[in-house]
Amino acid sequence: MSYDAPEVLISEDDIQSRVTELAAQISEDYADCNDLVLVGVLKGAFIFLADLSRQLKIPRLIEFIAVSSYGSSNVSSGAVRLVMDVRGNIEGKHLLIVEDIVDTGHTLKYLIGMLKSHRPASIKTCSLVRKAESAQVEVKIDYLGFDIGDEWVVGYGLDYAEQHRTLPYIGIIEPTE
Ligand code: IMP
Ligand code: MG
Repeated sequence: MSYDAPEVLISEDDIQSRVTELAAQISEDYADCNDLVLVGVLKGAFIFLADLSRQLKIPRLIEFIAVSSYGSSNVSSGAVRLVMDVRGNIEGKHLLIVEDIVDTGHTLKYLIGMLKSHRPASIKTCSLVRKAESAQVEVKIDYLGFDIGDEWVVGYGLDYAEQHRTLPYIGIIEPTE
């Protein structure tokens, strides 16, 4: 079986230098914080979270949360379902949600509301990518890697029907194949 590698949109080098910048900014902003918890959103954020967290210069804990929004298609229904909640006690902690991509904004908005019920001290958001023109709900991204257009991207954790997640770069595919 042949494999057509997706066309590069954001190179591995560009991702790595942006991740370094984001980690420096987060380390500075949370310099006096002893109870930062990074909440990675599975599955898409697993690679971004791994790279980002290892470059932080501050104490931090890692939690994961899993949601499902699109099933296996690429059309947002706006309906978000919690598949796995955090395991640890995050009450009174400073949460930083780490997402792969913000498209319509429904997922991140849902997550903020859901995590608030755990009564954390604060919640901020970090996303590697945002589809700037696709927003349907307003949600603040405190730390953003890249803005892209309305196209389907894969790699660096992102998938299309579970494919391409482990590409080292972010590529574009036609979501019909
Ligand atoms: P939203 O709720 O529409 O903002 O969608 C957010 C979620 O949809 C992300 O966390 C991804 O899991 C998925 N998603 C949206 N756009 C893309 C894409 O271009 N590639 C891969 N996954 C995507
Ligand atoms: Mg995601």
